[in-house]
Amino acid sequence: MHDFITLGSATRDVFFKAGDFELRPHEHDAPQMEQCVPLGSKLEMKEIVFATGGGGANAAVTFARQGWQTAALGVVGADFNGEAIIAELAQEGIETKYFQKHEGDHTAYSVILVHGSGERTILSYKGEGQHFNVQAIPFENLTPKWFYLNSLGGNWDLLQAISAHAAANQIKIGMNPGGKEIAHGLKKLTPVLKNISVLITNKEEGAEMIGTPGLEHRQVLDKLKEVVGGIAVVTDGPNGVLVKDVDGKIYKAGVPDSPVVERTGAGDAWSSGFISEYSRGGDISKAIQFGTANASAVVTQFGARAGILKKDDWGSWPLVEVEILTS
Ligand SMILES: Nc1ncnc2c1ncn2[C@@H]1O[C@H](COP(=O)(O)OP(=O)(O)OP(=O)(O)O)[C@@H](O)[C@H]1O
Ligand SMILES: [Mg+2]
Repeated sequence: MHDFITLGSATRDVFFKAGDFELRPHEHDAPQMEQCVPLGSKLEMKEIVFATGGGGANAAVTFARQGWQTAALGVVGADFNGEAIIAELAQEGIETKYFQKHEGDHTAYSVILVHGSGERTILSYKGEGQHFNVQAIPFENLTPKWFYLNSLGGNWDLLQAISAHAAANQIKIGMNPGGKEIAHGLKKLTPVLKNISVLITNKEEGAEMIGTPGLEHRQVLDKLKEVVGGIAVVTDGPNGVLVKDVDGKIYKAGVPDSPVVERTGAGDAWSSGFISEYSRGGDISKAIQFGTANASAVVTQFGARAGILKKDDWGSWPLVEVEILTS
């Protein structure tokens, strides 16, 4: 029996490091910055790294490295990149037989432009990655302890089917929704969210789901928790994270001062790390510390997978301080 089955994206990622892309403030959205690629120019890249990624697949790697029996379910095209993704997951000891392979389009592919600061711009082609065929999912064989959901291409039928199957079989759901899930909005998502054990969004995603851009970190947390049956978590990049548990208790943690080489995968590492550790015994502080250590380890290397912590190498990462807020 599986401990975790992840459903979500799986991509081929190519990282380009130029180091000297010009940065300038966004014309309409300062202090947001733009990393500039002049039209008609030819820019030489200093470094290139090939990797595989995608939120569903990245999370599966955390779970497998943490010693859990793990399967990943995603969609790839019938092409070389799809084969490479599946082979890399299998090498991690992840069950890949539930992956769907479709002829119609390419495997998801991302080109990631990495700035010297470690921040990046992702150009992503979603391709087959979001074309889940709900009818072809053998739900009767899928009875893990946990489902981990990430980007499902906004497939409402799929979300409903997972939610109903999980409820009927006492399967817990952890979710770090993709943009198209978030776009359904809080009202429509409410029946699904009631049945979720851990919902994780970043601050902007949470505000968008609620339908009120610009909400403060704490406001997003409180609003989401009104709907989520289990724990609500709202991350905010370098500002750290707020967690509200089922009793309304709030946990707050920052981000350790660790080196950042390339930050793709931080969110996936944090979310899957948090849920992995939480699933061991429900200790939220420890889950925050492990999620944060996992994210810190991932941002010290190129690629969303490199750095994901194995079961025994958590010890070398500092534990972030977790504060419990009284109101
Ligand atoms: N540079 C970093 N160093 C250490 N930890 C980080 C870093 N960036 C993010 N984290 C940790 O990961 C958590 C999630 O990051 P963030 O809020 O950026 O998620 P996200 O916007 O969903 O990211 P992603 O774009 O990777 O999905 C943060 O709350 C923080 O604890
Ligand atoms: Mg994210």
